Amino acid sequence: MAFGSITKSAVTRRLLIILVIVEIIFIIIGLMAIEVSHTESFRFHDSFVQTFPHREWRNKTRKQILAWTSFWFTDYWCDMSIKGEPGRCNDRCELTRDKSRVAESDAVVFHFPDVLPWSTLPPRTPDQVWVLYNLEPPPRQIWYTGGTPWRNIYNWTMSYRKDSTIFVRPYHGYEPLSEEEKIKVKQENKNFAEGRYKIAIATVSDCYDDARRYKYTHQLMKYIDIDIYGSCGNKECPQWKPECENIHKKYKFQLAFENAYCKDYITEKYWEAHMRKIIPVVNWKTDPKGLVFPNSYINIWDFPDMKSVAEYMQKVANNDTLYNSYFDWTKEFKMNCHCGCHWCVLCDALFNTTIPAQVVIDPMQWAVSMDTCKMWSVATFLWRIVERLLFDIGLA
Ligand SMILES: *[C@@H]1O[C@H](CO)[C@@H](O)[C@H](O)[C@H]1NC(C)=O
Ligand SMILES: *[C@@H]1O[C@H](CO)[C@@H](O)[C@H](O)[C@H]1NC(C)=O
Ligand SMILES: *[C@@H]1O[C@H](CO)[C@@H](O)[C@H](O)[C@H]1NC(C)=O
Ligand SMILES: *[C@@H]1O[C@H](CO)[C@@H](O)[C@H](O)[C@H]1NC(C)=O
Repeated sequence: MAFGSITKSAVTRRLLIILVIVEIIFIIIGLMAIEVSHTESFRFHDSFVQTFPHREWRNKTRKQILAWTSFWFTDYWCDMSIKGEPGRCNDRCELTRDKSRVAESDAVVFHFPDVLPWSTLPPRTPDQVWVLYNLEPPPRQIWYTGGTPWRNIYNWTMSYRKDSTIFVRPYHGYEPLSEEEKIKVKQENKNFAEGRYKIAIATVSDCYDDARRYKYTHQLMKYIDIDIYGSCGNKECPQWKPECENIHKKYKFQLAFENAYCKDYITEKYWEAHMRKIIPVVNWKTDPKGLVFPNSYINIWDFPDMKSVAEYMQKVANNDTLYNSYFDWTKEFKMNCHCGCHWCVLCDALFNTTIPAQVVIDPMQWAVSMDTCKMWSVATFLWRIVERLLFDIGLA
């Protein structure tokens, strides 16, 4: 009797497990189908914005910006004060979170990840600009539901993509040096290779990324020395240890691989290398022109294979003149921080009369389907793990 009931519960358990597996498979297929349908529907549009011949215009000397949605589900936008920004625009723009002031607002800002299908839309006037604000590339997004049901609603996009209405930098940027600064740099005439006797350093904490950094790093390691720190590396040196603080000083190169191939998305990895004055070795698949310092990186995709990359790195490491040429930009430019919520960039654009009246046809398509990387999904997540396993057993 007891024996029989145990068997019964074992059978039930097995059935349950099978059901769960079938369910997971259905979810993966469903998720893949959603991805395919987005790619499909994109074919119907040549462009992601539609422009109108006439733009309504409210002639004001001071514009009002309303942050309509939450910011990552909180009331705290990255920077609620225009005054906090380099102080250029507080006389021309005012920022508010007060929804009752929507009618008098010139711009209404929606943070993409905070727009949900059940979110309420404010009433609008034709002169008002609705701005879709986004700093996260597709793999960092789990939902992005907001874009889908809301077609033909947002007038402008404001994001790190160069094809946005308003291009903003999520990390750093650069500006020209002043004449005095130029003279100072010239006098210093720094040798950036000095004291760097090791080849390359990498810090990797994501072992299953879309860009398969583990694969390319290991291929490079066949030809040159790379010390990998972080949870997926072969070396340990926690940042808090004094001897680890300056560990980068020993190295000629820093592998600054992005973990996915997203259009125009250049993170702190590149900028950090330049703060340390190490040459970053990058894996960019889209043209970074205008986004980064000229001649300031080695891109592995500019070479036919990893062996050639390694040979070139060796060549640069052995020639100080060549090494320093990657820092020629320091004679012209300096890094700056585009911290905060980019309110002043938006403020400038609100006074720009040459931007026509326009609407974004399908924000989801623009942000996800038109990108070169995929949105986070269970399907892509599982696939990354499979790819990694295949690599570990020598099949990929
Ligand atoms: C806006 O108003 C100012 C005066 O307040 C006027 O000088 C200017 O021409 C107006 N601009 C437009 C585009 O109507
Ligand atoms: C080092 O690099 C510079 C600049 O590319 C080049 O002109 C020079 O010939 C190289 N020196 C050697 C020893 O290869
Ligand atoms: C105004 O917007 C246009 C694009 O619509 C851009 O080319 C131009 O540089 C902008 N002007 C200013 C002053 O920012
Ligand atoms: C904003 O988009 C709407 C369509 O939803 C359009 O009627 C309006 O003219 C646009 N306004 C501007 C300033 O682009």
